[in-house]
Amino acid sequence: MSAAGTRARGRGRGDAGDVLVVQGLDVTVREQMLVEDVTFTVRSGERVGLIGESGSGKSLTALALMGLLPEGLTATGSVRVDGVRHDLVGADERAMSRVRGRDIAMVFQEPMTALNPTMRVGDQVAEAMLIHRTRPNRKAAHSAAVELLEQVGLPDPPDTARAYPHQLSGGQRQRVVLALALANDPALLVCDEPTTALDVTVQAFVLDLIVQGVLDRRAAMVFITHDLAVVATVCERVMVMYGGRIVEAGPVQAVFTRPRHRYTQGLLGASDLAVVDDRGRLATIPGSVPAAGRFPAGCVFRNRCAHATALCETRPPWTATGNDAGFACHHPADAADAAPTSASEGRQR
Ligand SMILES: Nc1ncnc2c1ncn2[C@@H]1O[C@H](COP(=O)(O)OP(=O)(O)O)[C@@H](O)[C@H]1O
Ligand SMILES: [Mg+2]
Repeated sequence: MSAAGTRARGRGRGDAGDVLVVQGLDVTVREQMLVEDVTFTVRSGERVGLIGESGSGKSLTALALMGLLPEGLTATGSVRVDGVRHDLVGADERAMSRVRGRDIAMVFQEPMTALNPTMRVGDQVAEAMLIHRTRPNRKAAHSAAVELLEQVGLPDPPDTARAYPHQLSGGQRQRVVLALALANDPALLVCDEPTTALDVTVQAFVLDLIVQGVLDRRAAMVFITHDLAVVATVCERVMVMYGGRIVEAGPVQAVFTRPRHRYTQGLLGASDLAVVDDRGRLATIPGSVPAAGRFPAGCVFRNRCAHATALCETRPPWTATGNDAGFACHHPADAADAAPTSASEGRQR
């Protein structure tokens, strides 16, 4: 029987319903904004990508959702998870720890962040179940843990269950982390560059396991990556983040073939994605991501944008183009454009 089948909790998993509702999420350190006004909804069973260059605020957004921000960083705004009555922002650690690992679980880039080096991996997975009381006793939890280790493709599960993390390869460790994250059939799995630290030879395999684990449980997923090709295969929707803000969002197909925000255009142009390539691709985005606090006022992308004008010194409003879709850009690409225009064309305006 699958882990989803043995689900102990009564909360059903229908096709409708919001699993995660984030409204006006800010992350600040002292006076400085690191994540600003992030608003989005993830529905039951949806897989949503979060993309953007390094330093855009993706990881901090994920950590804020999990109540795992580092010391000194503060989240404000609202984070609500289906089935949890209270707002998770500002929830005390006791309330948060009832939700974390049960309703919402996370897979980090580096597996050792999530593993206890001094505990056998089978015990760690069993412990995750016992903490949230999703299995009646230690024996049941342990056999469910071995079954999960098998589901995530680990060889000789009873034997692997007795191993310590350091006795496993990086790919195997990340599979243990996945088992740990799936242990209580979360409604939402948050993945932050889950395969980036792994050997390229096992990346696709681990990615498949993550997607399968989520599909089997009809769980929703927020998937953070800088790899646009992965988003195209794994996610239905995508949100583009830059300067701590979501600058564009929409169905993957629409955003990747007809990006509206100039930043999204640049990201796609700099990638190897063939979907935008029928009229020649963009040059890479000029310059680099500023350090936190060094983004320009108004449009955060304007100092790197070939299309920027004086208007861009004011913050572009969000233009909704559909449900969960829109962009924040004063000079968006034409909606009818099948492919981005070149950056040099823009400069002549
Ligand atoms: N603990 C921290 N204190 C201060 N600034 C931080 C801290 N963690 C991250 N930042 C800054 O916040 C910005 C966003 O970081 P992050 O969310 O890790 O970006 P991403 O995951 O998109 O690469 C970066 O400029 C980063 O340097
Ligand atoms: Mg990151």
